[in-house]
Amino acid sequence: MIVTIDGPAGAGKSSISRRLADELGFEFLDTGAMYRAVALMGLRAKIDWDDTDRLVEFAKSATIDLSGRAVILDGEDVSHEIRSQEVTQVTRYAASNVGVREELVRLQREFAEGKDVVTEGRDQGTLVFPHAECKIFLTASPEERARRRVGDLARRGETVDFEDILQQQAKRDEEDTQREVGPLLKAEDAVEVMTDGMSEVEVLQKLVGIVQRYQ
Ligand code: C5P
Repeated sequence: MIVTIDGPAGAGKSSISRRLADELGFEFLDTGAMYRAVALMGLRAKIDWDDTDRLVEFAKSATIDLSGRAVILDGEDVSHEIRSQEVTQVTRYAASNVGVREELVRLQREFAEGKDVVTEGRDQGTLVFPHAECKIFLTASPEERARRRVGDLARRGETVDFEDILQQQAKRDEEDTQREVGPLLKAEDAVEVMTDGMSEVEVLQKLVGIVQRYQ
């Protein structure tokens, strides 16, 4: 069974999706981590971001292991580094690159082959797994999402301004929804869950209930 969870940045998808996968005994696929890992490779190699072919080469040559709790890029644990502000800012170059998307979508389908999976991203229910048994669109208001992001970064020791985060988020939302390839879109058959004012446990319970309807 495939459960897709799509939605905008900061809707709390990653932590909730992982907990949902644990609860159901399913594998978990964090597709944002894959785009982040490719962007990190570009950042480390100090590439010219206009050099789109170079990023495709990175995506093709990388070994990204998402089978455990950590994100392992070519044998190195980059779980923490890929969530930094610096990587977040440049991930758009990987996400808007047609060749990178083709390669990562191929890897995502390969990962899910023959397994029960909760997969999280922007295009999972629309493009990557259009025949998924259960599709969820997880969202929250821009202010609530920015508040959560500020909290996440504070826990990492990064101090940021709320208004700056709100602005960056609006830019990311626009890029995510306007992108020509794999844009953020609610699948027609997805169940929308608006999480404003809900605790993580409440959201989790709600999602478990939704998945059970399709099992
Ligand atoms: O979900 P997360 O914030 O980790 O995603 C990082 C970036 O990767 C997002 O801003 C989005 O542009 C991109 N992404 C994507 N397609 C996915 C998952 C993430 O384009 N399936």
